[in-house]
Amino acid sequence: MVTAPVFNVIPGSAVSDCIESNRSSVFEAIESTYRLHASGDTVNPDSYFLLYPDNPSARIIALPAHLGGRVQKSGIKWISSFPQNRASNLARASAVLILNDAETGYPIACMEASVISATRTAASAALAAEHMAAKPFEGTLSIVGTGIIARTTVEWLMFRNWKFDEVNLFDLNRDEAERFAKWLGDSYGLKTNIKTQLDDTLREGSLIIFTTTAPAPYACDEASFAHNPTVLHLSLRDIGENIVLGSQNIADDVEHCMKAKTSLHLAEMSTGNRDFVTGTLVDVMDGKVELSNSTPRIFSPFGLGVLDLAVGNIVLEQSSESNGMVAFPDFFAHAVRWE
Ligand SMILES: NC(=O)c1ccc[n+]([C@@H]2O[C@H](COP(=O)([O-])OP(=O)(O)OC[C@H]3O[C@@H](n4cnc5c(N)ncnc54)[C@H](O)[C@@H]3O)[C@@H](O)[C@H]2O)c1
Repeated sequence: MVTAPVFNVIPGSAVSDCIESNRSSVFEAIESTYRLHASGDTVNPDSYFLLYPDNPSARIIALPAHLGGRVQKSGIKWISSFPQNRASNLARASAVLILNDAETGYPIACMEASVISATRTAASAALAAEHMAAKPFEGTLSIVGTGIIARTTVEWLMFRNWKFDEVNLFDLNRDEAERFAKWLGDSYGLKTNIKTQLDDTLREGSLIIFTTTAPAPYACDEASFAHNPTVLHLSLRDIGENIVLGSQNIADDVEHCMKAKTSLHLAEMSTGNRDFVTGTLVDVMDGKVELSNSTPRIFSPFGLGVLDLAVGNIVLEQSSESNGMVAFPDFFAHAVRWE
């Protein structure tokens, strides 16, 4: 007799354990998913933004996607951003990921996804840094916006064996930078400097990470980028159009990045073209575009739902009831059409 699939719920603790014990597979999955996306074996429609007219800094985004290749799963990440949560020490972002079986369309899992989202963002940033930074890398890491994505990105850089002379931290909220400095010292023994000026932070960074919640560009001083750093522009709306136009720009997916008033989108709107985009990360990985150390190199990832699916699929494959997954065999109790 035909039966509907089992539905599984995976809590955050199980998700974190799975990712922690499968870091190499996660990193490989990020790289292979980018390649699959470039080859056309994915479906990654536009993200859908739920915005609140009376609370403009808050939003919830839906990212539907389908991942082909070996994985063959569809799904959707539903991720909220409420920056005011920070005031009560609650994470800004919260999320779930639903995975669907691609053959029957049935949902087969619902899992905590703020960790999945941070993981795919940070692992892809580490992948981009490896392909875009001058080699051998020397110098200081500068972080602008010392929250959860910055912390996760540092974890992935350290997992990939990056070495930094020092780490500069800049955050509008000094308490955040101080907490981050303590964590960096306790976890990695790294020497940190908490900066009070953005320009100093940028000028001293060979690798710069932007992970703020800024709604519009403010990093516009060309002198701060004159040393041609590698920049991971994860928060997408920090860097001024003048800097974008004077840099080599690498996107995860060019079409997706030209939306929602990202710095790349603003540059496109003002110039009327995309000539300032050098290529995608896969173009860089495949040697199709050549990067120069005589301009800044900026990675702008819009964030692809297919990456969430790739990480979520590893979590589902590696989870079991012994690590906290809860299976609901009768979730689709009325799936059989006629008894
Ligand atoms: N591109 C992607 O795929 C992707 C994925 C996930 C998150 N993000 C983005 O990354 C950003 C950071 O996320 P998070 O979870 O770490 O947020 P978070 O709230 O944990 O931390 C953000 C930090 O930035 C600081 N900040 C805000 N504006 C600033 C400014 N102008 N200058 C300096 N510091 C500033 C805040 O005080 C806070 O400490 C968000 O904008 C989020 O949307 C991007």
